[in-house]
Amino acid sequence: MIIIKSPREVELIHEAGLIIAKVFKGLETFIKPGISTYDISKFCEEIIRSNDAYPTCLNYEGFPGAVCVSVNDTLIHGIPSRKEILKAGDVVSVDLGVTKKGYIADAARTYLVGEVKEEIKRLVEVTKQAFFEGLAQVKPGNHVGDISHAIESYYKKFGYSSPKDFTGHGVGLSFHEDPYIPNQGVAGTGVKLREGMTLAIEPMICLGSSEYKVLGDGWTIKMRDKLATAHYENTVVVTADGAKILTMEDEHGQE
Ligand code: MF3
Ligand code: CO
Repeated sequence: MIIIKSPREVELIHEAGLIIAKVFKGLETFIKPGISTYDISKFCEEIIRSNDAYPTCLNYEGFPGAVCVSVNDTLIHGIPSRKEILKAGDVVSVDLGVTKKGYIADAARTYLVGEVKEEIKRLVEVTKQAFFEGLAQVKPGNHVGDISHAIESYYKKFGYSSPKDFTGHGVGLSFHEDPYIPNQGVAGTGVKLREGMTLAIEPMICLGSSEYKVLGDGWTIKMRDKLATAHYENTVVVTADGAKILTMEDEHGQE
């Protein structure tokens, strides 16, 4: 069931989303070689709680961390660990939900740790641009398939891949709501977009093959070819004439 949000509800999701924007801003200078993925999680959790909000990932279906921290060949759902220390050349994705006054926003960013190889920098840039290609399709009357198709055709130009099992989703009253938003699809198909839908659009992109395995912890998604990955996600609302980003300071994504 798709839940259309009222303007007031969108405002509350935006409030949660702006806390995520604050976390991301802080991470830009916090992330450096030598810190652990647990340090990142603590840093995020402190900002979230000091804004009278709750880290949505914590205990979500049993997830044992406040946020997901995924390094290099871990695509998503990395569990923060004191033993996993970042080193120069790594890429680290931080994916978090924030619940404020019962309303939820969800977003992810991928950070470069120290100097990183050109091919990985490009992967991170393309993953971000794939989100904006999808976003450009968000307006009433377009379909979910238009978003999916735009994302897929963009990352495929670079020879990248994305496992079909992981998708974007509706968000707001729950962490994961209908409709699901695949990172590949056919234009003009799927659910029709309507004003007031709130959507998490999230390209999860692999440098190599989309073959993955789930680690024994039941969460960590790692690429079988051990090549790097990137993740970029925002929560957006469908407006009368397009979309507004709810997890950035600027609603059109200017930084
Ligand atoms: N934030 C993730 C998403 O983009 C969900 C994380 S699942 C969790 O959908 F269990 F780790 F929280
Ligand atoms: Co999400």
